[in-house]
Amino acid sequence: MKKDVIIPLDFASVQETYDFLGLFPAGEKPYVKIGMALFYLEGPEIVREIKRRGHKIFLDLKLHDIPNTVKMAFASLSGHYVDLTNLHAAGGIEMMRAALEGLTRPDGSRPQVIAVTQLTSTSQAQLNDELLIPCGMEETVLHYAKNAKIAGLDGVVCSPHEAAQVKAACGQDFIALTPGIRFADSEKDDQSRIMTPAKAREAGSDYIVVGRPIIAASDPLGAYRKCVKEFLGG
Ligand code: C5P
Repeated sequence: MKKDVIIPLDFASVQETYDFLGLFPAGEKPYVKIGMALFYLEGPEIVREIKRRGHKIFLDLKLHDIPNTVKMAFASLSGHYVDLTNLHAAGGIEMMRAALEGLTRPDGSRPQVIAVTQLTSTSQAQLNDELLIPCGMEETVLHYAKNAKIAGLDGVVCSPHEAAQVKAACGQDFIALTPGIRFADSEKDDQSRIMTPAKAREAGSDYIVVGRPIIAASDPLGAYRKCVKEFLGG
């Protein structure tokens, strides 16, 4: 599997998004993440446009609905402009299987699809007292990851601190995509359990999602290149 650094396009406007992408020279096209905010504002057209510019795209819409609706939604999204997408493992194994059916194109190919296990904003107390899931967070994350594996998904979103355990439980080919990445000398922002790109590589991350350390840097291109060098080596 090809490891990569993914930049979330967490900008307030389309213009800022294009200005950022314009910083990269013609031969250097980073893998980017398009989230709900940009997608709901601009629709599939912005995804097509960014793909047309040569970027690989992780469409981060975190679907969660009844299996048939998820299948139909993913069928709409399965166009050749998406490389990776995701859903909530909480929707269950049947929903995840339906997602794969919807994503599979007439030629048999499909984008990669990974599952969100538990949102990192969910605390242990919320899990137990509000959602009435009477287990530890780690146990729940690993159980949901195993469900995703059973359904045939390609991997999960997780903390780099959980990547090794996820791989041990679900196999080395099972993708661990990890946000919460910071350079040794950068701000933590609102992330709590962070790791450097080099440590994330050692921990087994396949894709790291790195936002503010790159997009809010005084030299975003330099920060991206430093991140790629630390994560991929060389
Ligand atoms: O700026 P920063 O590196 O914290 O950005 C991380 C990106 O990954 C953001 O787009 C954030 O929404 C996303 N993300 C995350 N933690 C998760 C899932 C997604 O930080 N558990």
